[in-house]
Amino acid sequence: MNTPVEGFSKLSKAEKIDWIATHFTKNPEKSMQLLQQYWNTDAEVQKLHDEFIENTVSNYYLPFAIAPNFLINGTLHAIPMAIEESSVVAAASKAAKFWLNRGGFQTKIIGTEKVGQVHFIFNGDFNKLKDFFGNIKPDFFSDSSSITQNMQKRGGGIKNIELRDLSDKVDNYYQLHCTFETLDAMGANFINSCLEQFAKTLKQKASSNPDFTPEEKEIEVVMSILSNYVPNCLVRAEVSCPVETLNEDDMLPEEFAKKIVRAVEIAKVEPYRAVTHNKGIMNGIDSVILATGNDFRAVEAGIHAFAAKDGSYSSLTHTSIENGIFKFWIEVPMALGTVGGLTSLHPLVRLALEILQNPTAKELMQIVAVAGLAQNFAALRSLVTTGIQKGHMKMHLLNMLNQMGASESEKKQLVHYFKNQTVTNSSVKEALQKIQSQ
Ligand code: MEV
Repeated sequence: MNTPVEGFSKLSKAEKIDWIATHFTKNPEKSMQLLQQYWNTDAEVQKLHDEFIENTVSNYYLPFAIAPNFLINGTLHAIPMAIEESSVVAAASKAAKFWLNRGGFQTKIIGTEKVGQVHFIFNGDFNKLKDFFGNIKPDFFSDSSSITQNMQKRGGGIKNIELRDLSDKVDNYYQLHCTFETLDAMGANFINSCLEQFAKTLKQKASSNPDFTPEEKEIEVVMSILSNYVPNCLVRAEVSCPVETLNEDDMLPEEFAKKIVRAVEIAKVEPYRAVTHNKGIMNGIDSVILATGNDFRAVEAGIHAFAAKDGSYSSLTHTSIENGIFKFWIEVPMALGTVGGLTSLHPLVRLALEILQNPTAKELMQIVAVAGLAQNFAALRSLVTTGIQKGHMKMHLLNMLNQMGASESEKKQLVHYFKNQTVTNSSVKEALQKIQSQ
């Protein structure tokens, strides 16, 4: 039985590695070697990674790939993606190529508003709270001016502060619901700093408000924090083409278009399907967000809440066929940054942003939305025609062969062989054994 460790974070990296390998792994020598094998050979780069988080003992690699040929608003992009799932980049590239010859992707920003809240308890008369809020509203802005001045100079800052009465949901619960423009920053630190200052101002001013009873003067701030639900920080991406140009191998264009429309209709009304439908979209979205050093958990949480905004979890993509034109689009909220955070620190993130021509946050939102739409199109295209496993298993073939210990020449032969064969675990095993026995 292991005992708890005291002061783990204060141990040196070597000591941490020794401790974890000795106490929790079967072969400590081998485990220590493995952790060190993933260190960067450049000590400075490694130090940078060590300092991103607490208790770093090694680096965890994900493949960093490029999906080329994305025509977005008339400009060609090569999109960097960081993801472990075998078929995602291939699917994105295939969708990009499909739409390259059909006018590409059109995108637009619908809004860029970020949100933060001060949640508090007020024991008293709401009308008095409302009057008090009206009187002190300018103080929220002036008391936080040292935090907001730089952002304001660049055209951003606090957009609005609203008092909301939620006492019908939790006794005596009210909030300051605040909106912000954070330009090219994701804005978490800016927003949270503003909110904590608003909370201080609220408490201070309440405690000295002569119109409040002693109880009313004691406002209890529960918490001050940004919201990752940003329905007004919204981007739209779209593709469209005449139905007759949707030529697919074994299917007439009209049938193909109708099947895609039907697949989206199903995802709109059926949550079990909607979750998987949207998961495919997130394959594209998350991998670009990771590659560009953004917070995929924040984006995931916000997007899924948005997918359920009408009371039932639903598709993030939409389709229509009107006057012979097939249209397929996505609207998704996301708060992204192209300055601050990891964006200037992580060397590969910097390169990913350079590959994307150093986009503004608005431009990155549009690229990410396109990656999500492309991924959904690729998934639906396979699902309604050949089925998903054909492409999936082809991409998974190398993983299987690696797991089975195939040599480079065996892999080459089998990749060629499976171009026209169905890939399953047993068919791959059998084919490998056959080659090995020859
Ligand atoms: C797999 O990662 C994603 C899909 O399941 C998405 C979908 O079903 O639409 C293929």
